[in-house]
Amino acid sequence: ADVLQLRSQLLNWYDKEKRELPWRTLDSVSLSFLSVWVSEIMLQQTQVATVKDYYNKWMKRWPTVQDLASATLEEVNQMWAGLGYYSRGKRLHEGAQKVVTELKGQMPQTVDSLLKQLPGVGRYTAAAIGSIALGQVTGAVDGNVIRVLCRLRAIGAESTSPAVTEALWGLANTLVDPEKPGDFNQAMMELGARVCTPKAPVCNRCPVQSHCRSYRKVKTISNTSSLPD
Ligand code: ADE
Repeated sequence: ADVLQLRSQLLNWYDKEKRELPWRTLDSVSLSFLSVWVSEIMLQQTQVATVKDYYNKWMKRWPTVQDLASATLEEVNQMWAGLGYYSRGKRLHEGAQKVVTELKGQMPQTVDSLLKQLPGVGRYTAAAIGSIALGQVTGAVDGNVIRVLCRLRAIGAESTSPAVTEALWGLANTLVDPEKPGDFNQAMMELGARVCTPKAPVCNRCPVQSHCRSYRKVKTISNTSSLPD
């Protein structure tokens, strides 16, 4: 019941508060896959605010995988100029060519095949694309989500250790809403970007405050005049 409540509180908040981002307004299935793929690659090392313009120009120039596949690397690099980490654009281009030539235009349809087939797509990006574009039920753990989950469960351990990473993926997979995995994951990212921020989290605007162990701990300490156990 607890997890059901967390899901609905988070998703209700997301429905009301989510930012209108260009890759969140989709009108066809094939466009949506490419939109999510392109946006997730751009967002890997670049802020949302910067990505918006690049994303819009990119999708206008290459609205389909076939369009992107027939571009030259020079054109791709030109469009990428200013985003940094150019290998991301190169791999996106290679991936598009692979989809067209080797996969007969068919996008990979599972998280596993995304991971195996698409260059530049790692564990997080495969999970993000799989959940957002394909409705695959998986958590998606990036830097923002790590912070949110660690606070939610009051995990103080070094969050980059392999054991903690595995535990966080396990937790994300348990929490994700099986009906709306893409919205759920984006809501977690949104929460990390807008509310559960690194330095000064805005706990009084958090939709899942009642589930947060870090919040509860801080409350307990500030309500106790002597040292807590
Ligand atoms: N960062 C990575 N993926 C994102 C998404 N889909 N929306 C907002 N921020 C993101």
